[in-house]
Amino acid sequence: MTFAEAWADGVDIPSAFYPEEGAALFAAAQGCRTILEVGCEYGRSTCLVAAAAPTADVYLIDPFASVEILQRLVAALYLRQQRFSLYRMRSADVPAGQIPLVDLLHLDGDHTTAGVTVDCTRWLCRVRRGGILAVHDYQRASLPSVTQVVHTYTGDPHQWEILPSAGYLGLWRKQ
Ligand SMILES: C[S@@+](CC[C@H](N)C(=O)[O-])C[C@H]1O[C@@H](n2cnc3c(N)ncnc32)[C@H](O)[C@@H]1O
Repeated sequence: MTFAEAWADGVDIPSAFYPEEGAALFAAAQGCRTILEVGCEYGRSTCLVAAAAPTADVYLIDPFASVEILQRLVAALYLRQQRFSLYRMRSADVPAGQIPLVDLLHLDGDHTTAGVTVDCTRWLCRVRRGGILAVHDYQRASLPSVTQVVHTYTGDPHQWEILPSAGYLGLWRKQ
């Protein structure tokens, strides 16, 4: 499936994702065998990575604000016949040992300083060497904590290569 097809397929799923961000996330997910996403909500980004990597093992973390949102995400993934493991809980509460090394980590969960710190502390170490970190709302002026915290964890160029951002999607490759 092309990005254009995947975007059109998920365009009715509510989300703040812009097409250029979606295109970059789709490209990052292509060829991935394991993907972890923190913060799925209705599943726009989740369905994009699923379309890009239909045979991947996809791990999802989100406490979900309502059962309706959870149901819509699950329905969207079942419709697309995607295999996934869903942790309906906060990022901090997921047993770290249950998440393998991943080829792509997408962070779009709790955007507070504390929330992004938890995500970076817990999950950046689960990105395999050569794998990609994608952070949504990176450099969004209204959510400065995201950028501030992520910079403290990705500042070492020997560990994280900065890739070109797309809109508010920041991207790094683990060295
Ligand atoms: C901006 S939405 C995600 C949007 C989604 N990625 C998309 O494509 O539209 C943020 C999500 O993070 C979830 N969230 C909030 N706190 C969280 C936490 N501590 N751990 C994991 N997810 C969290 C919320 O329930 C919400 O569904």
